Amino acid sequence: MTDVSRVRKAVIPAAGLGTRFLPATKAMPKEMLPVVDMPAIQYVVQEAVSAGLADVLMITGRNKRALEDHFDRVPTVEKLLEDKGDTERLEAIQHATDLGEIHYVRQGDPKGLGHAVLRAKTHVGNEPFAVLLGDDLIDERDELLTIMIDVQARTGGSVVALIEVPMDKISAYGCADMTVIDGQDYVRVNHLVEKPAVEDAPSNLAVIGRYVLHPAVFEVLENTPPGRGNEIQLTDALQTLATREGEGGGVYGVVFRGRRYDTGDKLSYLKAVVTLACEREDLGPDLREWLGEFTADLAK
Ligand code: UTP
Repeated sequence: MTDVSRVRKAVIPAAGLGTRFLPATKAMPKEMLPVVDMPAIQYVVQEAVSAGLADVLMITGRNKRALEDHFDRVPTVEKLLEDKGDTERLEAIQHATDLGEIHYVRQGDPKGLGHAVLRAKTHVGNEPFAVLLGDDLIDERDELLTIMIDVQARTGGSVVALIEVPMDKISAYGCADMTVIDGQDYVRVNHLVEKPAVEDAPSNLAVIGRYVLHPAVFEVLENTPPGRGNEIQLTDALQTLATREGEGGGVYGVVFRGRRYDTGDKLSYLKAVVTLACEREDLGPDLREWLGEFTADLAK
């Protein structure tokens, strides 16, 4: 039996190599790339804390220092801002430190997302937990994680977040074969396929970087051999859970129709920065005006 049904812990894998962003990620995790003026990872930690998950475990890699430093105090800068009376910036940097209780564990070799999640086993123990990918941002105005936590409590299984994508883009994602459940705000996932060819894709529903998992996933991951790309895939473990009956079995999907920004991909990253900056009170008006002129010039 699981210890508690209430999800209290968030696991944030941030140990990937970020090869799509080289050379920027040569000495720094891609999760530290700024989205306007805040690293992507801070948006993700803020989302976890807003959903009531103040216990955060970050899975880090060889570049862990920048991540740890970001969520730590920085007395010299704080003193400087205090002396200057710059309370706005002082509050902004202190906010990152005051977010919650952040723990770190190293992945060692980045052997895949499933392997990264397995590193959380000791910290998480025998209770359901959330996984938030450190390069996937969900707009704070749109609700997702709290709905997933609720669905996990109601079903007792594991929950993935799904988005509808154009069919010709499905090969970039994990894809769900699912059944609609009458009267429910979630679907039953029968089968998951990692990055299928368009003709093999069972739907246009793609798995994105939010999960609420039953702890049974740990034992399954321990027995999951390396799959695609010779990495231990979380999708493969979920596939096993999807077909399992009884305690910890079953995978469910919440279809998300809100705003999401994938900062691990260059084009999506640029769109995220422009979109969020356009919406900011301090930057938006000037940026929108400039963008209008810029795009008009491009069209000439
Ligand atoms: P990606 O699939 O985007 O891989 O990981 P990546 O290595 O980070 O980036 P590219 O494809 O080489 O550019 C999705 C998430 O899982 C984490 C990443 O940090 C990212 O948040 N991850 C991936 C790990 O923590 N460990 C791994 O071994 C792989």
